[in-house]
Amino acid sequence: MTDRELLNLAQEASTRAYCPYSGFPVGAALECEDGTIFTGCNVENAAYGDCICAERTAVVKAVSEGYTKFRRIAIYGAGKNYCYPCGSCRQVLSEFAPEMEVLAAKAGGSYVSYPLSKLMPYTFNF
Ligand code: THU
Repeated sequence: MTDRELLNLAQEASTRAYCPYSGFPVGAALECEDGTIFTGCNVENAAYGDCICAERTAVVKAVSEGYTKFRRIAIYGAGKNYCYPCGSCRQVLSEFAPEMEVLAAKAGGSYVSYPLSKLMPYTFNF
């Protein structure tokens, strides 16, 4: 699958976001090492601290289905800035795949790509 195809899946997933509080839909498409894709969207809650990011939705879907080896993740948010994963999502992704590739897109579809280890060096572990 090309980067663009994975980004399109992330954008499509963003249409399923539940985000009445922020009004900022985010979608993610997580590619496993065997090519299986899990998508996710942000799921907000009236208790704001309980909001779940799109990336973590995708990771939890994957892990709960027995998939823990990840190759790439595409993230789409229609803002003026690239939709990079937040710190918590970086930590959660790095638990499973510290060297995976992260594609971050913005409104209009342009994107940047980095190894997670560049976005999240010296990740916590013990
Ligand atoms: N959000 C994500 O889904 N992923 C991120 O990496 C950053 C933020 C969501 C959380 C919240 O629903 C909305 O974007 C605004 O912060």
